[in-house]
Amino acid sequence: MALGDAGTSRLARSTAEGACALRAAGRTLRPPLPRNPDHLASSFIAPGLKATALVKLPILRGLSPRVFERILPGAIWFELARTIHMDRVLREEVAAGATQAVLLGAGLDSRFYRLDFGAAKLFEVDHPVTGAIKDERLEALFGGRPEEVTYVRIDFNTEDLAQRLGAHGFDPAARTAILWSGVTPYLEPRGVEETLRWFAAGTGPGSSICFDYIFREVIEGDVSSYGARELVERVTKGGEPFRFGIPEGAAEEFVKSFGLELEEDLGPDDAEYEILEGHGRPYGFGGLALVRQPL
Ligand SMILES: C[S@@+](CC[C@H](N)C(=O)[O-])C[C@H]1O[C@@H](n2cnc3c(N)ncnc32)[C@H](O)[C@@H]1O
Repeated sequence: MALGDAGTSRLARSTAEGACALRAAGRTLRPPLPRNPDHLASSFIAPGLKATALVKLPILRGLSPRVFERILPGAIWFELARTIHMDRVLREEVAAGATQAVLLGAGLDSRFYRLDFGAAKLFEVDHPVTGAIKDERLEALFGGRPEEVTYVRIDFNTEDLAQRLGAHGFDPAARTAILWSGVTPYLEPRGVEETLRWFAAGTGPGSSICFDYIFREVIEGDVSSYGARELVERVTKGGEPFRFGIPEGAAEEFVKSFGLELEEDLGPDDAEYEILEGHGRPYGFGGLALVRQPL
C-alpha cells in the first residue's frame, strides 16, 4: 500500500474503515444467518457523513447488508468468514501456548478489546496514519490506549519489522500468533516476501501467521469470479489497486519457498460451507492461509 504518498490519510481511512464497516454491517444480520462476532465494529467507525458511517445509525443499520451486497457482492460474507475464522485461529493458538499475539496492519480490528487472551503479550502494528485514526477511536471508547496493548508504528515499505517490534519488547524466541488480515493484496510483492522472511527467522518455534490473499489471476485481469469485477473496479478507482496475489492452488509452494509449512488453506467454497454453513456467498477469488514454524 502506498501509504505515505499524497492522499494517504483518505486511503488509510477508506481501507481500514471499509473492512470495519463490513463487520458492523454483518453484525446486523438476523438468525438463521450467522452474525459477525465483532460487536465493537460500529463503535470503531468515526461519526460523519461518509457511507461507512451509515452503519452507526440504528435506523439505517438494518439496510446496510443489502446495500453492501449490491455494491460489493460477496464482501459482507467474506468479512464474516474472515472474522469468524481469524477469531478462532487466534484463540486456539493462544490456548495452545502462544505467549505473544500480533495484529499486522491492525486497522480498526477490535479483537484485543473484545476477546480475552489471558497473559499473552498483545501487539498492534500499523502505519502511523491509520494508527492515529485508531487512537482517536480508542480515546473516544476507552479514554485512551489500553495499557495491555503495545502499539507499534511502521511503514512496511520502508522500515524493518524485526527492528520496530524489538524496540517495543517483542521476544523473537517466543511462540507467537500473528494475524495479517486484509493487508497482502495492497502490498508490493516485496513487502509480502519480507514479512514472511521475518516470520520465518524472527519468531519462535510453533509460531503461526494467518493471512488472507487474493488469487493472482484477478490481478492479471480475470475478474470472472464472484465479486471480483466490482471490487477490482472500486479499489482501482480509489487509488489502491491490488498488487499482490498467489496463483490459485499455489499457496503451499509459495510458502515453502520461505521454508514454511502451509497448515491450512481455505478457499471460497470452504469459507461458504465450513464457516458460513452455506448461508452466504463470499468473494470467489482468494484464500485464508495458516502458516506455521516447525515446533
Ligand atoms: C484493509 S485494512 C485491514 C485492517 C484490519 N487488519 C482489518 O482486517 O480490518 C489494511 C491495513 O493495512 C495497513 N497497511 C497497509 N500498508 C501498510 C504499510 N505500508 N505500512 C503499514 N501498514 C500498512 C493499513 O494501515 C490498514 O490498517
